[in-house]
Amino acid sequence: VAEAAARANRLTRLGPSQYLIPGLVDLHIHAPQFPQMGKNLHLPLEDWLQKCTFPLEARYADQAFAEAVYGELVATLLANGTTTAVYFATVHLPASVALARICLAKGQRAYVGRVAMDNPDECPPFYRDASTDEGLALTRDFISEVRALALNGGLVQPVVTPRFIPSCTDRMLEGLGRIAADTKAIVQTHCSESDWQHSYVLSRYGKSDTEALAGFGLMRQRTVLAHANFISAADMGVIKRQGAGIAHCPLSNYYFSNAVFPLRRALDAGVHVGLGTDISGGPSPSILDNGRQAIAASRALEEGVDPAEPPGERRRPGTRIDFREAFWLSTRGGAEVLGLDAGVFRDGAPFDAVLLDLAAPGSNVRAFDGVDSHQDVLEKIVNLATRANIKGVWAEGRKVA
Ligand code: GUN
Ligand code: FE
Repeated sequence: VAEAAARANRLTRLGPSQYLIPGLVDLHIHAPQFPQMGKNLHLPLEDWLQKCTFPLEARYADQAFAEAVYGELVATLLANGTTTAVYFATVHLPASVALARICLAKGQRAYVGRVAMDNPDECPPFYRDASTDEGLALTRDFISEVRALALNGGLVQPVVTPRFIPSCTDRMLEGLGRIAADTKAIVQTHCSESDWQHSYVLSRYGKSDTEALAGFGLMRQRTVLAHANFISAADMGVIKRQGAGIAHCPLSNYYFSNAVFPLRRALDAGVHVGLGTDISGGPSPSILDNGRQAIAASRALEEGVDPAEPPGERRRPGTRIDFREAFWLSTRGGAEVLGLDAGVFRDGAPFDAVLLDLAAPGSNVRAFDGVDSHQDVLEKIVNLATRANIKGVWAEGRKVA
């Protein structure tokens, strides 16, 4: 193969400081929150939504604003190595379709959802679906429009997207479950994210998010559950049986979740898990960043965080992950949640790849001959590589950054 490529003048040889890794998978991004990334991290989730986030998302009624922001965001994510991205857009149909179109034009494999939210008790009048029926109709229209985009050979797919249980009425949740079954579009939502959110669902239904979502037909093959911090062992069983998966968002969780996701337990239970930036709950566009935050969070969980507690009560032994799991979550783990044959280099798999150069200008990471094994280099990449190291990005064989 190499000789044939060389003869055709199409062979690229990696230099001694260069490494090729599979494309990164970001399972949870709020595209409209990009202008808020890096600020407004001082409030609890419920106040942050009402005071900061819903007013920002309401602005995407302005199509020109939406297109400008979404173009910048997709370019930023590609430059950070994200070849597959799962997005929440907003309630607005035209702006949500624009996000899908921008991903397609820039060559990013993308799953895009128009956000459904109709509960007048939890959503302000300036930012919600005008009615349940209208929200359901817009969701159906969105799915048809994205599937019909010119040149969309399946690179960009629509997602049924109830924001989370609190922002939806029962009739909306039932209707979205029916749409998912009818259209075979995948589902994404937030699940048991914070103390407030988890207890809201418990008091509304007397059951967990996982059980309630399953009851509405929303816990399906490849359903992407963001966060899932407070899921029980029984919830994990339901998620695994249904073939759903979890977008672990470690950086966001530090700010909004009140707890560390039990990642090791989920992995040991055989639940599909990948990583999400949760822009702008998480202030980083980088899955590499979130991989190292997943390691750090698992170590904090294992060792405990409150020095006033005695060691025996502070610790949760055996809950750490290391760089190997972080790398897997960033690539293959995310792909498995989506049922994709990506995240790994294999004959016949789509060529989604990131070219890293440890000798790039601005690199914080070096490998030393005679000192670092291949495994050491991978550990250093997981812990230290930044956008400065990313020299090229390919999605489905097309150079996208
Ligand atoms: N739950 C409902 N909406 C949101 C959101 O925009 N961000 C996060 N982190 N959690 C949510
Ligand atoms: Fe989120």
